[in-house]
Amino acid sequence: MKERTNHVSRAKQDLLIIFVFGILVFFILAQVDLDETLDKIYYTKYKIWSLVETAVLFSFFGFAFIIYSYRRIKETKYALLQRAQADGMVQQQLMRIRTLQSIDSKILSDVPMRDILKTVIENVPMELSGDVVAIGVPDYGMSFARLPSGDIIEEDILSVSEDMAEWFEKQKETIAVYDLAFEPRVKIFSERIQNLKLASYLGVPMVLRNRTIGVMHLLTRNSKDFAKEDIDFFTALAGQAAIAVERSGTIEALRESEEKYRTFIETANEGIWTLDASGKTNYVNSMMAQMLGYTEEEMVGRHIFDFMDKEARIEAEKNLERRKQGTIATYDFRFSRKDGTDLWTIVASNPIFDKLGQYNGALKMVTDITERKRAEELRIEKEQLEYASRAKSEFLANMSHELRTPLNSILGFSQLMNDGAAGELNEKQKHFIDNIIKGGTFLLNLINDILDLSKVEAGKIVLNVEKMPVPAVIDEAITLIKEKAMKHNINIKKEIDPELKFIDADKQRVKQILFNLLSNAVKFSKESGGTVIISVKKEGDMAEISVSDTGIGIKPESMGKLFQKFEQLERGISEKYGGTGLGLAICRQLAELHGGRIWAESKYGEGSTFTFTIPLEAKKE
Ligand SMILES: Nc1ncnc2c1ncn2[C@@H]1O[C@H](COP(=O)(O)OP(=O)(O)OP(=O)(O)O)[C@@H](O)[C@H]1O
Ligand SMILES: [Mg+2]
Repeated sequence: MKERTNHVSRAKQDLLIIFVFGILVFFILAQVDLDETLDKIYYTKYKIWSLVETAVLFSFFGFAFIIYSYRRIKETKYALLQRAQADGMVQQQLMRIRTLQSIDSKILSDVPMRDILKTVIENVPMELSGDVVAIGVPDYGMSFARLPSGDIIEEDILSVSEDMAEWFEKQKETIAVYDLAFEPRVKIFSERIQNLKLASYLGVPMVLRNRTIGVMHLLTRNSKDFAKEDIDFFTALAGQAAIAVERSGTIEALRESEEKYRTFIETANEGIWTLDASGKTNYVNSMMAQMLGYTEEEMVGRHIFDFMDKEARIEAEKNLERRKQGTIATYDFRFSRKDGTDLWTIVASNPIFDKLGQYNGALKMVTDITERKRAEELRIEKEQLEYASRAKSEFLANMSHELRTPLNSILGFSQLMNDGAAGELNEKQKHFIDNIIKGGTFLLNLINDILDLSKVEAGKIVLNVEKMPVPAVIDEAITLIKEKAMKHNINIKKEIDPELKFIDADKQRVKQILFNLLSNAVKFSKESGGTVIISVKKEGDMAEISVSDTGIGIKPESMGKLFQKFEQLERGISEKYGGTGLGLAICRQLAELHGGRIWAESKYGEGSTFTFTIPLEAKKE
């Protein structure tokens, strides 16, 4: 508009100048010869002009031309200046667009929110802000400010009054203040900028989806009327910042959940394994790698077939085929560890399809069941062993019974002959019969022991549990051993808790345990004799019965073998002391059958104590 009026007035000026010169020329010519001039006008149409006339005319045109040229030059200069100004504007606009673009690209590359906010205020052009820019996003507790030095600080530098904040919040519009000195609503409290004497203020809300999430503040030292373009640009910046905040907030939340998800996968007790469409490993968690004895890096990129033997591979090929058809499945599978051992697993396998429905691989959750498998194998083995042992015991029990019958008659008749029922025997015959009886008795004892033991093991002994009078049973056991003890010069003592009158037990079997322990105590006494003490006391809900002697004792290294079948601790014991090493094994079985246990303590060369327990009250079933 302005430009056009300029042009019109210039044209008027030109016309005026030419008009003035025209009149001037006319008067010059007139002065030269008026009459002649008149003549010229009326009569001398073909008169040749005088030299002066011609000169004046040429001067006129020359002058007019000079003025015209001068005008043109001036005009060109003006146009150039205008262009330069327009260029400047374009440049400025371009720079602003660039600024917005660079913030945009920052938003898209997922840098943390604080960096984005910094970038935003860093990029507010100096010519716009001049002095101080600040940004505050209360939801994330973040405030930054850029000082005139260009330094960026992370702190609140100003506060706005509540109604101003409400204005930003509700109206979502800009507030511009020409002179802060008369504006109580804006308080600058940061010491770092108080001395700057800031004059004007522009506050722009950061609006996102109709919500104000923060405010950008611009402060200048010179009082300033903010131009509309400037306000528009600052508003655009604030909008950009709002988007950035939201996006990086989302990204941070995403990152957080991703992190959570990752730690979940990494610390899962299950192996997680993903394959690509060809069956190669895309990902394994550390648990999976650990199960197979590899590192995660060693596994990635390798085909799943590399982690199994040929036999398992045939199975795996079928499985992969099924996955391609989209079936989900859970199955037992045997992988091979790096060290060649088997890894038994339960695999839950899911196919993965891409957006187009194309098979894209599989996700496997793998649970190690090797231990379980081993335990199962062990259980089967144990069952088989138990079965074999039971069968053996049954066989022994039957056989012992078969042996006992004829042996009893051998012993019976030998005894009769020994007593002279078949007539007087001479010395030699007596000697022979004596040997038969000794050997036979030994054999019968052995058979009885074996029979007992195998009956217990075969589960054929049923306890006859009743109220058992403790002192009476102990006395009976002592009676059985008394004679033998006297022979060995052994004194038997008893220490019985008077409270303990009855226990629930099989009288016969308890007597058997006691007799075994007592006969050992007597048998393994020193030649000089000694003392055997039977003591009975209450220990919790158990009766604790022990037999201690002052005999030969047991070496510490032999203690472990005591209660095993046919175990005699030293060679030659059976020749010297007799016996077969079954007594303690039977004691243990009988004590355990009652729900108690048995153990020994001993000092080699000083004596031993054998203790067994029986529950005071039998469990009611
Ligand atoms: N009181 C004890 N003092 C020292 N050694 C003992 C004592 N009791 C048992 N032993 C050792 O433990 C072994 C096993 O005892 P166990 O009663 O089972 O067998 P045994 O007495 O030799 O034979 P059996 O009891 O079958 O006639 C004995 O041979 C002996 O070496
Ligand atoms: Mg014995």
